[in-house]
Amino acid sequence: MCGIFGYIGSRTASAKLVFDGLKNLEYRGYDSWGVAVVSETKLKIFIKKAAGKIGNNNVDDLPDGNIAIGHTRWATHGGVTDTNSHPHSDCTGNISVIHNGIFENYEDFKKKLIQKDHKFISETDTEVISHLVEDFNKKLIFSESVKKAFNLMTGLNAIIAIKQNEKQIVAIRNGSPLVVGFGRGENFLASDASALRPFTKDVYFLEDNEMAILEKNKVRVSNVKTGKIVKFRKQKLNWNVDQGEKGKFPNFMLKEIYEQPRILSEIASTGSGLMEKVAKLIKKSRGSYLVGCGSASYAAMAGTYLFSKVAKRHINFAIGSEFGYHLDFLNIDSLVIPISQSGETIDILESMKKAREQGAKIVSLVNVLGSSLYRMSDEKMLISAGPEKSVASTKALTGMIAHLVLLSFSLDGGVRKGKKVLMDAVDSVKKTLSDKSIKNIKKLAGIIIDSKNIYVIGRGLSYPTALETAMKIKEISYIHAEGLAAGELKHGPLALVAKGTPCIAFLPNDETYGANLAGAMEMKARGGFVIGISFKPHEVFDYYIPVKDAGVATIIPNIVAGQLLAYFLTIKKRLDVDKPRNLAKSVTVK
Ligand code: AGP
Repeated sequence: MCGIFGYIGSRTASAKLVFDGLKNLEYRGYDSWGVAVVSETKLKIFIKKAAGKIGNNNVDDLPDGNIAIGHTRWATHGGVTDTNSHPHSDCTGNISVIHNGIFENYEDFKKKLIQKDHKFISETDTEVISHLVEDFNKKLIFSESVKKAFNLMTGLNAIIAIKQNEKQIVAIRNGSPLVVGFGRGENFLASDASALRPFTKDVYFLEDNEMAILEKNKVRVSNVKTGKIVKFRKQKLNWNVDQGEKGKFPNFMLKEIYEQPRILSEIASTGSGLMEKVAKLIKKSRGSYLVGCGSASYAAMAGTYLFSKVAKRHINFAIGSEFGYHLDFLNIDSLVIPISQSGETIDILESMKKAREQGAKIVSLVNVLGSSLYRMSDEKMLISAGPEKSVASTKALTGMIAHLVLLSFSLDGGVRKGKKVLMDAVDSVKKTLSDKSIKNIKKLAGIIIDSKNIYVIGRGLSYPTALETAMKIKEISYIHAEGLAAGELKHGPLALVAKGTPCIAFLPNDETYGANLAGAMEMKARGGFVIGISFKPHEVFDYYIPVKDAGVATIIPNIVAGQLLAYFLTIKKRLDVDKPRNLAKSVTVK
């Protein structure tokens, strides 16, 4: 996924405004960045772009102008180079385009354009859009040229385009998000509403195949397939500005880890007003599914244990990228609950479209208001974790699990009990975030920092906990970590445990304790360095991390302990904890 930001209005420092807007979007992709501005005096477009993170760069050498667009890239077509960075221009340099998505059928058009003597300088699919627009603009007005080019594109895309003597920004989306922000005498565009917060709370989330033409005092929206005008309604964003900022924290991940007690308390006290309604839908359905990707898939898996333990109810679980291969039996009585922080994960969106075709009802648990998943769902539960900027999900994930705890209690009429259990988890998380606990976990990170492999075991609810902890460790510290169902150790993985191998065992005060302790002993017997994360110490532990018992919600403080361990491993390795290599905040392309 990429970050997109656009401005048109009375401010002349539009290049700097857009550049600063990109900093709020860099978590979406940070291979390279670029800004284009229309200079009013020189009546031409000036571009500054470069491979690498925004870092300490600036756009002070770009001229004043009232129209600017900017982009942060997550490379798909073409390597990470200055030339392949966006924006991309046509032959004349009068047109500039930025793009999020994949222009699947670009090659044929590139060949035809080259035959028409268009000169290309990059390896990207995006540059083809610029030359298509240039070609069509010989006969059509600018906005119609952009529309005609867009309608030729296959794949899921969002583009925004400017032309030097056109006082407008043209934006079109199909599958990749675009949000219009409304100001006084100025208007904005972004791929994520959170980037608009410093400027406006009045937004409109473009629907698929909608084109917005932004002028200084006017925004027109139409459908690119029918040509019809769209009478859109603005929405008011419910976030305040500082929610998306680091504040006193050194990075977003630590800030978002520390936000968890407040967010979990808010979920416990308000929950989703839809809880009872969704519980009824689950009871009424014949076959229901929890579906997620990555960390969200671990939340979905945890949901199956919670529904069983708390409500004696069966619910299926599937990973988003696999769900499409075993949903043929879904029907109008089926209920699918996709779980997603961003609401833009392509594997979720595509599998939900298939589920919808089978007639299933879709109730999403999603964090981003107005996201594609939010808008395609029949019912939506907002995680309400606020904007999550660190690529590694922390508060959104525990927020997902908190909602599933409440939902599992709602299934047997005990939502009040569910809120009490959640507040026990909040208390336990606060203890895990205490100075003493932080010091203890930081010390452990120093001990295992040079490990090549780390194994994490759990049973029951501690199995998705183990998977999530392993995910956190590998995705930000780049140390290989493997989460395992403890019972599987003897079926193979135990062969890998050698002297000193760090073996993390989650041992909450539940029915899995004894069997899981046996797993820890097996690893110890092979020389493993056993790290017990538990409500009480045990002699088999070489290192002990206390986590206060919170019943079925102990999964939440256990996950927080894992987050902190991954965090301190990463900091000690002096890596970028918020923007790890090869990853993006939301996987919007296959
Ligand atoms: C989380 O730490 C990971 N970065 C990643 O697995 C993430 O959970 C996954 O990509 C799903 O994203 P979503 O919740 O936005 O759908």
